[in-house]
Amino acid sequence: MIRIGIVGLGYWGPNLVRCFSDIENCKVTAVCDQNYDQLLRIKDRYPGVYPIEDFDALLDRDLVDAVVIATPTVSHHQLALKALQHDLHVFVEKPLAKTVNECRELVEVAEQRNRTLFVGHVFLHASPVIKLREMIEADELGSINYISSRRLNLGPVREDVSALYDLAPHDISMMLYLLGQNPISVACSGFDRLTPGIHDVCNLTMTFEGNRIGMVHVSWLDPRKERVLTVVGDKRMVVYDDLEQEKIKVFDKGIDKPKNASGDFADFQLAYRCGGSYSPFIEEREPLKAECQEFIRCVAERDVPVTDGVNGLRVVEVLDAADRSLKMGGIPIEMATGTPVSGGVR
Ligand SMILES: NC(=O)c1ccc[n+]([C@@H]2O[C@H](COP(=O)([O-])OP(=O)(O)OC[C@H]3O[C@@H](n4cnc5c(N)ncnc54)[C@H](O)[C@@H]3O)[C@@H](O)[C@H]2O)c1
Repeated sequence: MIRIGIVGLGYWGPNLVRCFSDIENCKVTAVCDQNYDQLLRIKDRYPGVYPIEDFDALLDRDLVDAVVIATPTVSHHQLALKALQHDLHVFVEKPLAKTVNECRELVEVAEQRNRTLFVGHVFLHASPVIKLREMIEADELGSINYISSRRLNLGPVREDVSALYDLAPHDISMMLYLLGQNPISVACSGFDRLTPGIHDVCNLTMTFEGNRIGMVHVSWLDPRKERVLTVVGDKRMVVYDDLEQEKIKVFDKGIDKPKNASGDFADFQLAYRCGGSYSPFIEEREPLKAECQEFIRCVAERDVPVTDGVNGLRVVEVLDAADRSLKMGGIPIEMATGTPVSGGVR
């Protein structure tokens, strides 16, 4: 039985307490938050858990085998590092940490200590995204031209990190996973209307090898909630709308150039393909619960997660490059090539 301690019981942490409490092979034995009211709230609903305000005190007692960190991003590195140094397995909410160097250190220490370091890129555990990846690998969509995504809503506004760091990790992690590679360059523009230096709206463009593009639009200053990712292949196109009942819709649509076009304008006719659409069967399961189960499985079987520390590092490398681009007026930033997207495989 793996004993779990959940740290940070604000907006997101209670969801993790609920999911881990429902899973076999593990038991939530402790919860930690420096805000006493948050602790009391959880203690009322889960009387069996040990509430503790001080994270260091949690580490010094033999209460847990693994910690789940759902505190604000700026604290991820310090808390995760301490937990790894106490030989605990660690699940950190996205993004893994604020800087690339912090992420590198966590990856190194997890490796030295032989502990599981798992990042909360929850969509890589969502059935629609796994289905999309299977379709791409089976060449059902053809060669991928671009992927675009919109993650918009009115709030919740953060003051510690920008909409880029708060929202885009989901889209970046999905695009890297779907394409199976890291971008070769990153450009980002946006604006900070509410808090100086904290961007409310960002437009990120990632360029991948083979002239493939990933475009991400994130905002917490938008009238409508949207969670849409579109994959455009030259055989088929797919729209994944996370707010719909039928989450994936495959379109037999495209525009083909005639193979024997001479280049003469009269000879050059584009062929529009406007076939039907369908929604493939997708296994229904809660992504967050699937993610928690995968963490427990990886700890129990000593397996490397797809969302491991390396994967968390790759996403923060993109965020870091995007942030630099944002500060330099949107110029493209070159990225290191040939690095793996993750240490784990699916
Ligand atoms: N996967 C998702 O879809 C998703 C959704 C929302 C938030 N998140 C992530 O979850 C994390 C938390 O976000 P949130 O919205 O719940 O934040 P929040 O501000 O609502 O809650 C954070 C909690 O952590 C506590 N805390 C802060 N520092 C602490 C410390 N050193 N020791 C103990 N407790 C501490 C605070 O008291 C607070 O209760 C962030 O990393 C965020 O990106 C993920």
